[in-house]
Amino acid sequence: MQDILPAQKAIHRHIEEVARSVLAGYGYQEIGLPVLEQTQLFKRLVGENTDIVEKEMYTFDDRNGDSLTMRPEGTAGCARFGEENGLLFNQVQRLWYIGPMFRYERPQKGRYRQFDQIGAECFGMAGPDIDAELLLMNARLWRDLGLIEDVRLELNSIGTSESRGAYREKLVAYLEKYRDDLDEDSQRRLSTNPMRILDSKSEITQAILVDAPSIADSLDNESKQHFEDLCQMLDDSGLAYEVNTNIVRGLDYYNRTVFEWITDTLGAQGTVCGGGRYDGLVEQMGGRGSPGVGFAMGLDRLALMLAEKIESSGVADVYVVSQGAEARRVAMQVAEEVRDGVRGLRVQMHCGDGKFKAQLKKADASGARLALVLGEEEVANSSVSVKMLRESGDQISCSRDKLVSYCRDYFHEGD
Ligand code: HAM
Repeated sequence: MQDILPAQKAIHRHIEEVARSVLAGYGYQEIGLPVLEQTQLFKRLVGENTDIVEKEMYTFDDRNGDSLTMRPEGTAGCARFGEENGLLFNQVQRLWYIGPMFRYERPQKGRYRQFDQIGAECFGMAGPDIDAELLLMNARLWRDLGLIEDVRLELNSIGTSESRGAYREKLVAYLEKYRDDLDEDSQRRLSTNPMRILDSKSEITQAILVDAPSIADSLDNESKQHFEDLCQMLDDSGLAYEVNTNIVRGLDYYNRTVFEWITDTLGAQGTVCGGGRYDGLVEQMGGRGSPGVGFAMGLDRLALMLAEKIESSGVADVYVVSQGAEARRVAMQVAEEVRDGVRGLRVQMHCGDGKFKAQLKKADASGARLALVLGEEEVANSSVSVKMLRESGDQISCSRDKLVSYCRDYFHEGD
């Protein structure tokens, strides 16, 4: 599990702020979901034969002997949340959540055992319009983050569980002929979860798949129409996408629309966001049916993409330096006055001794635009010397009672 350093955390926060505003713009409401759920929930909804349930969950018995799991994803918990809180039957919901997810995977760049997701789930809407809206919202988020040029949308329809059953049989019949040439994982999946073979990273398996039957040819008519309508809406909106019939996703609850947003800038862990439709999930959980669709994006992967693009804004706007015990006491009050007077301004006080020159070096490193300087002279005449750190100009003297309004003007000019 990774530690998140300040610079990384600042990027996570930035992504969260941008996402928060985009989600609000589409009428989504934020909810809080617990990190622990009953193990059974994931087994049933994510699927016994998925990688997640088979080998990636952090599961333990609590003091009561109940088997609990640290959530590996948010959709199952969100559906449980909706059902238990009476939010689903005959209702329309657009919900979102943010927080850590846990998967026991082999860590590498972009893949961690604890990672943050922002997820959104919509309930009560069966048509392709909400799928299209969701994808347009994703695209708006990439634009607002400055990442739109670096990601592409891959889209597929996997039909209903019946049409998928028919497809699975065709696929297995085809792959059986090449069983011995498939990679080890795919050989195992042939009997457990054959459609996941389409996702295989093995070049030999991919070569075998070139002539495999396509899921598009097995779709039932309604799913086909749903997908065509979705594609039409995306075309109308000018949102570029690529149909990739090999996208099946690694979780069992999906039907019809599935999609992934992929980047080539992160190497093997290039999927920054994935999702799709799960019309049977609520019913499978024992609730009265409610169609659903959603997505989740990995903040850690997005943060890696943004790391090179975002310039650090430092830790302070104003840095207060002082020399001598009395000046230090006054400086402390001055810093508080500025924080009181200018909302949101980041004021950092130099704590501890040091020559003015050394303190000003620290001021510069903090990213501050202004240094407030207090020595014996300033204390004696109740003033503060103000030094511009990012532009040329003489140091000016400002009386202490005018300092707040000076800072307000300096930082809010042009607002
Ligand atoms: P998922 O594809 O398993 O889907 O995960 C979504 C995103 O979480 C991935 O695209 C990736 O960016 C990020 N992610 C997954 N595993 C890791 C990891 N080990 N380290 C870093 N990032 C990771 C789901 O979780 C579904 N619940 C999405 C969904 C919501 N479908 C419908 N609604």
